[in-house]
Amino acid sequence: MEPGERTETGDCAAEAGPVFTLEEVGKRNCSREAWLVIHGRVYDVTRFLEEHPGGEEVLLEQAGRDATESFEDVGHSTDAREMLKQYYIGEIHPHDRKKEGSKNPSMTSSGQASFWSTWLIPIFGALVIGLMYRYYMLDGRTS
Ligand code: HEM
Repeated sequence: MEPGERTETGDCAAEAGPVFTLEEVGKRNCSREAWLVIHGRVYDVTRFLEEHPGGEEVLLEQAGRDATESFEDVGHSTDAREMLKQYYIGEIHPHDRKKEGSKNPSMTSSGQASFWSTWLIPIFGALVIGLMYRYYMLDGRTS
């Protein structure tokens, strides 16, 4: 068997390297194993299930997927964020990463779009009205 290749015999698959795909993390959502992804990092929270102050149900609910949003929605303390380190086991594959960092560039590009729509369209409109007014006035004088 090649490294990284896995058997599909059980709910929980064999060990893998430090970079995981979301699919691999998804296999770790049974009662024996619970992995989840927070900010592109993979955490094995199996031994934390019973200790979690928010209860094990919420962790099991999020197990096997990207729990970033739920984790942030709760507004976890800095202590909770520090605790994450204990359960860190690896990184999520770049292909499966949520586009967290792309939020800003997209905001700037839409910001640029709104810059043009806020300034260029009114300027163009004013020019057209100005020209129409000029022609109207010239027309009025000649006739
Ligand atoms: C490894 C990941 C996690 C760690 C280390 C962790 C840790 C903690 C800690 C230390 C608390 C106590 C309050 C605080 O200090 O903020 C807490 C509360 C809580 N957590 Fe987590 N948590 C994790 C993941 C999650 C996830 C994925 C959810 C999903 C919804 C969740 C939901 C909650 C809830 C609902 C509470 C209770 C909040 C309250 O009663 O005010 N946690 N967690």
